[in-house]
Amino acid sequence: MLNPLTSLTTSHCSMPYCARHVLPATRKDRQLQLQRLIEAINGVPHAPCLRVPFDLQFLIRAIRYELGDNGLDSAGVDVGRIQALMAAYSSNRTDWAQYAWFDKYRYTRNLVDDGNGQFNLLILAWGPNHHSAIHDHSHSHCIMKVLDGSLVESQYYWPENTTQEERGRIAFSENEHYTSSKADGKITTVSSCSSGTQRPLRLKQERTYRTDEVTYIHDKIGLHRVGNPSTTLSAVSLHLYTPPIRACRSFNETTGKARSSSCQTFYSQYGVRTSCLSD
Ligand SMILES: [Fe+2]
Repeated sequence: MLNPLTSLTTSHCSMPYCARHVLPATRKDRQLQLQRLIEAINGVPHAPCLRVPFDLQFLIRAIRYELGDNGLDSAGVDVGRIQALMAAYSSNRTDWAQYAWFDKYRYTRNLVDDGNGQFNLLILAWGPNHHSAIHDHSHSHCIMKVLDGSLVESQYYWPENTTQEERGRIAFSENEHYTSSKADGKITTVSSCSSGTQRPLRLKQERTYRTDEVTYIHDKIGLHRVGNPSTTLSAVSLHLYTPPIRACRSFNETTGKARSSSCQTFYSQYGVRTSCLSD
């Protein structure tokens, strides 16, 4: 596998991010080259070098160039372009094994890159039958790519009769009651609060994603739960959040009630196990 971080030489090939090229210096040129990549992904005839795989570090470098200093909410940056980049990367275990820390009892969140504060790139490691809670994304964009195994994403509508204003209040109610619990090796502060509804959440859609498939979620789409349906096999996924999620809310499927929690806890950072109070 070619390493994009090594010095790259000029080539006859005109395709972007092909691991033989230095990324263009200007944002305009970078966008032009990324557009070529997207066209190539969409079936436009392309140069042979697209068959040259690029590794995870090269993907990170390309995302950093694409997002610049502004994150996905900035003008001129399209979620679809990041999805295309992540889709173009072919999962290779040797790229990400160092970040995939497993825990016997729960899925783990492992920081790979902090995007200079503009995004977080995480690898989530799922043991058999490990599932997340139903949660929102605090207005962040989340793009998920399966690196190994399969994951089921269940999307839900927001609780009924919950206005946009009320959604904003769910996590910041003055009546919140704070408790602490150990999660992912750190103390996580959680709070209970009412979403103003006692009705079950309605399932919007459910889909299974397999290795190298990509999906996208945002609060405008709804809530979701992700999980590993296998009773025997593990799964690994790559998640890009921009801007980084500072706090998110989990929802009770039966009552629609919400709880807020910190999303800044990591089981490991940059391949190193995060220190914790006790194991
Ligand atoms: Fe999520």
